[in-house]
Amino acid sequence: MKGVILAGGTGTRLRPLTKMINKHLLPVGKYPMIYYGIEKLRAAGITDVLLITGKHSVSLYTEFLGSGKEWGVNISYKIQEEAGGIADALELAQNFVHPGEKLLVLLGDNLFEDSLAGYVKQFEDQSEGAKVFLKEVEDARRYGVPVMEGGLIKRIEEKPEHPQSSYCVTGIYLYDSTVFDLIKTVEPSARGEMEITDVNNLYAMQGKLSYHLLTGWWIDAGTFPSWFEAFDKLREYSHIDSADAKPSAGDDK
Ligand code: DAU
Repeated sequence: MKGVILAGGTGTRLRPLTKMINKHLLPVGKYPMIYYGIEKLRAAGITDVLLITGKHSVSLYTEFLGSGKEWGVNISYKIQEEAGGIADALELAQNFVHPGEKLLVLLGDNLFEDSLAGYVKQFEDQSEGAKVFLKEVEDARRYGVPVMEGGLIKRIEEKPEHPQSSYCVTGIYLYDSTVFDLIKTVEPSARGEMEITDVNNLYAMQGKLSYHLLTGWWIDAGTFPSWFEAFDKLREYSHIDSADAKPSAGDDK
């Protein structure tokens, strides 16, 4: 299975910081935000990774991640010229995924606790379709919201004013390679973006969109409050403790 991380977009909800730097390079604990998605892919046994980002700050990505060797993966890069939406970014992965091959797509600002290894293995054995991961949230209006029926997703509503459930569709998606044919049939939405929700709805209409519920914490770190929350959660993961504050011999002052 191939791994794709989407790290383009404009990061408007984290301005003014994102005037200077791409959102997914902002620090979360000891690492830039992008690191955690890469680590989730690696831990799920996915080592061929495509990182898609805008032109902004791209050299910082290559400086930090390089070929991926240090992080246990092989990383390729693609540039999304304009922030045309999540599905527009994903379309750039078409040549990276062979026909018949499956892919795990992560939105680079989604940070979460669950391991994806078991789900990836299960999806490898599935013949076709797509799978999304849901999380119960306090205010679903910020997200894609699923309408479920009989163990499948009937449809997803993007940022609805009156959510039909208290679940959000997180930015973790498993697809078969027909996703690229479906993307081509999607038109830009009212806000001018190629929506991943429209792509997922095409699977749902065919009765091919299943789901899992995440059991651990999940954060879309694209706003200041949620980025701060992510920082707190990942302090522990990053092993930042008071020992980091003590200088040791040879340290820079
Ligand atoms: O976080 C989960 C939510 O992510 C889902 O519930 C929604 O259905 C989905 O549309 C998305 O909503 P957001 O409003 O949070 O999307 P945002 O514009 O913040 O973009 C999410 C990620 O996708 C971000 O990490 C960057 C990447 N992206 C986004 C756009 C618009 C790109 O790579 N290229 C783009 O053009």
